[in-house]
Amino acid sequence: MASIESVMHEQRVFAPPQALVEQANISGMAAYQALCAEAERDHEGFWARLARENVAWHRPFTKVLDQSNAPFYTWFEDGQLNVSYNCLDRNLQNGNAEKTAIIFEADDGTSTPVTYRELHQRVCRFANALKSRGIKKGDRVVIYMPMSIEGVVAMQACARIGATHSVVFAGFSAKSLNERIIDAGAVAVITADEQMRGGRALPLKNVVDEALTLGGCDALHTVVVYRRTGGPATMQAGRDVWMHELSAGQSEQCEPEWVGAEHPLFILYTSGSTGKPKGVQHSSGGYLLWATLTMQWTFDIKPSDVFWCTADIGWVTGHTYIAYGPLAVGATQIVFEGVPTYPNAGRFWDMIARHKVSIFYTAPTAIRSLIKAAESDKSIYPTQYDLSSLRILGSVGEPINPEAWMWYYKNVGGERCPIVDTWWQTETGGHVIAPLPGVTPQVPGSCTLPLPGVAAAIVDETGQDVPNGQGGMLVIKRPWPGLLRTIWGDPERFKNSYFPAELGGKIYLAGDGAIRDRQTGYFTIMGRIDDVLNVSGHRLGTMEIESALVANPLVAEAAVVGRPDDTTGEAVVAFVVLKRTRPIGEEAKQIATDLRNWVAKEIGPIAKPRDIRFGENLPKTRSGKIMRRLLRVIAKGEEITQDTSTLENPAILEQLKQSL
Ligand code: WT7
Repeated sequence: MASIESVMHEQRVFAPPQALVEQANISGMAAYQALCAEAERDHEGFWARLARENVAWHRPFTKVLDQSNAPFYTWFEDGQLNVSYNCLDRNLQNGNAEKTAIIFEADDGTSTPVTYRELHQRVCRFANALKSRGIKKGDRVVIYMPMSIEGVVAMQACARIGATHSVVFAGFSAKSLNERIIDAGAVAVITADEQMRGGRALPLKNVVDEALTLGGCDALHTVVVYRRTGGPATMQAGRDVWMHELSAGQSEQCEPEWVGAEHPLFILYTSGSTGKPKGVQHSSGGYLLWATLTMQWTFDIKPSDVFWCTADIGWVTGHTYIAYGPLAVGATQIVFEGVPTYPNAGRFWDMIARHKVSIFYTAPTAIRSLIKAAESDKSIYPTQYDLSSLRILGSVGEPINPEAWMWYYKNVGGERCPIVDTWWQTETGGHVIAPLPGVTPQVPGSCTLPLPGVAAAIVDETGQDVPNGQGGMLVIKRPWPGLLRTIWGDPERFKNSYFPAELGGKIYLAGDGAIRDRQTGYFTIMGRIDDVLNVSGHRLGTMEIESALVANPLVAEAAVVGRPDDTTGEAVVAFVVLKRTRPIGEEAKQIATDLRNWVAKEIGPIAKPRDIRFGENLPKTRSGKIMRRLLRVIAKGEEITQDTSTLENPAILEQLKQSL
């Protein structure tokens, strides 16, 4: 049976503060329910209303949703718009011209503010520069850039001329970059000479050169280089141009290229569990609407807010909540070049205090590593900083363990800021299940309720709804505007991966296990379906056992996988990072025994780890996700043959191979 058992019992509930409820964009549970009811009554009418109210259309749409070619749904198809016009020109017309759009803080701490007027000028100039190289609507442009104003300018300039961008995270290797340039058929790459992270300069242009030397990039004719450090960059005549030289003398006006609502705004590659990366393709109209609405709903964005999303523009979070969403709603936001641990692990808290950040959005992996750092060095504890400007906190990317949630709530939010634990995916374009800060009582570890108009549900392998209190597969039963449109160049893979025939071919399969609470109906994500363990016939999600371990005062981070076992089917193997240094010998054995007993007491003997390994860290992807598929190989005692090139810290694997 597909059902996943839940062993976790979280009882704590945190209601939003009344003052926040009163001023919220969606104020109170009744207002949320009214929106849900409106969508329920008239799904298309609901989205049409919101699309008319929130997006500036060059040509209004007359069609809303077309389901005739399911699952290739289209939205607002005959409408025309330009995303960059919506993010920039609209702000010049509505009184935001002199408002700060971006405060850029460099790795070394220098900060540079940019107004909407300046940002508009820079985007127009660069858009004209791209056009001068013959780049036009429908072309694909790969962006391989550091966190920078120029990175945002590059994305917006592509949107302005109707070129489809594909941002590749600037930590990826030449090989990964090469594959993505080829798959997208990119005509140009926009990059920088180097990037600065944690006081060190890292090459980018050299990596691009290497990627192009690997061959196959047949459509490519241009490489544009932003001079960030003045470090080494060999320029190939004819192909390579400096961003500042190409932009010099270009007009500060650039008529936007009006595109159809379904025009692909971007492709973003996301690694599937097997095979080559999938080029997730997003639309223009539906995507922009979803970015805008989720800024208003989940972040309750107001003109006076200072918004900071710590993600990189190389991930979808940096697309929706840096490059597009905040600009579409005329917000002021921080763009940060560096890393959370430089010059010390108080950097985030220091920046929040200096810039008076009011909405702060980061990932559990960052929170857990900052907890570990702060617990061993009290001088950088968040409570040492003035964080009183904060009003809303957010979390994204993984389930946040209840103990990490509590720490974030108390020490960063001062027990006054709702935490929006936002569940979504590269594929969904924006938040899908999340508390609303002026509506939803929060339960640590739960992403709570779907946003209005989103038909999230939990089903078994035959597509039947499972009752609340029983785990299963998370699906979304009706299309909504934010969802990906296809996989670039591979519509069959799109259908098979996300709309499997076993579920009828029309329901979006997210790939995560989840459970709803019996009383509240709240959703809790239990981890990827592929990661589910089967111990003596009990199907257990990884998240709950990991959270039980993290709830132990010694533990900073934990990852749990299954190892084949003759008697129990699978045995639980836990990889653990302590808040203190990595234990060895007898002491390690003692702590392991204590932790096994701890788990048995917290959630029951069934979940007790058979084997515990200690490391200074866990193997993670570049976006900070734990790579459980590698841990499964280690747990079995086999050699790793998989590709480890996307691993952040390969050295850690050796430590974790050692059993106690
Ligand atoms: C997967 C999507 C969401 C944008 C960044 C990551 C996991 C994401 C949560 C959350 C539990 C979460 C899921 C999802 N995930 N947010 N709040 N609670 N799990 O995008 O790389 O496409 O990853 O991240 O497993 O499927 P992504």
